[in-house]
Amino acid sequence: MSTTTARVFNFSAGPAVLPLSVLEQIQQDLVSLPGVGSSVLEISHRSKDFDDILDDAQSRLRRLMGIPNDYEVLFLQGGAALQNVMIPANLLSGADQTADYIVTGAWGKKSSGEVKHYGKLNVAWDGADSNYDRVPAPGELSLTGATEGAAYVHLTANETIQGVQFHELPDCGDVPIVVDHSSDIMCRPVDVSKYGLFYACAQKNAGVAGVTVVVVRKDLLERSGPLPSYLSYAIHADKGSRFNTPATFAIYVTGLVCKWLEEEVGGLAAMEKQNIAKSKMIYDVVDGSGGFYVPHAAEKDRSIMNVVFRLPTPEQDADFVVKAARAGLTTLKGHRSVGGIRASLYNAMPVEGVEALAAFMQDYAAKS
Ligand SMILES: Cc1ncc(COP(=O)(O)O)c(C=O)c1O
Repeated sequence: MSTTTARVFNFSAGPAVLPLSVLEQIQQDLVSLPGVGSSVLEISHRSKDFDDILDDAQSRLRRLMGIPNDYEVLFLQGGAALQNVMIPANLLSGADQTADYIVTGAWGKKSSGEVKHYGKLNVAWDGADSNYDRVPAPGELSLTGATEGAAYVHLTANETIQGVQFHELPDCGDVPIVVDHSSDIMCRPVDVSKYGLFYACAQKNAGVAGVTVVVVRKDLLERSGPLPSYLSYAIHADKGSRFNTPATFAIYVTGLVCKWLEEEVGGLAAMEKQNIAKSKMIYDVVDGSGGFYVPHAAEKDRSIMNVVFRLPTPEQDADFVVKAARAGLTTLKGHRSVGGIRASLYNAMPVEGVEALAAFMQDYAAKS
């Protein structure tokens, strides 16, 4: 019996859709991993079998993203939320140092809120005035600069709620750039050597909730003084992501997602092509609707992961969500701070799902 007939197209912002082949692999191996005889849920994080799973996930991620050897790859817990704390704890080496935050949406705002516990915060730009509908132009940034004590510049690559995405990293000179890639990791190739650190909770593009991928340049591990042990990147690196029991199942799933990207999708350039084509399908309907669908983000900064738009009235937004769900297109309600509709088109959203949504939108607009 196929499992596909019972599945809807799930446009959730996260936890979100997984590749069907990954789900089927989990299902097939859940009771007994081949060659192991126990479930992945039952084996020790200190076992050779788990070593193989973690090493495989790490080497696939390194290959896919082209992560150089002078970067550590860590699998941590606590979500992106804990990274908001660990980043200033590790990278601000004293109260006289400043962390620059470029705030392009709700997640960046939240990240900036933790800096005060460790040092000075400089908001280098904040798009609140236009309800976070764009990223800044390079000339708009008020960066602190290395000589004035800037420790790092933080930004959120893709603001999941507002559907606003950096398509290029800003030039921050010699100051390490720290990026929240939670909702767009592996959506396209990136040049990892441009980053000081990036991180992503897994439950959107890299697997399931429970594990957070942190990739950090090794020289940055030495910056902080003594820290509570769980907060120290250096300790997690030294212990090979096994300082405490890691999220073993979630790491296994991240490995399967990377395997899918490598072996079925054909790598991140191929993934990017699909993502551009999928998001274009929806943006084309929005742009061709004669103003019926109104996009939230400025055209040049539109996300290829989260497409955010609204209908003429909140009542129509709500009616759209209900009727779409009846048609098997679920979880399309926008975040309450923006309203309207949010269609999350993560890597694993099949093109058929996006085609179905585009057709539904056209039909809905025609009948309204
Ligand atoms: C860009 C971004 N950053 C951070 C988070 C928060 O992640 P977590 O709930 O794992 O802390 C999310 C989504 O939940 C997100 O989309």
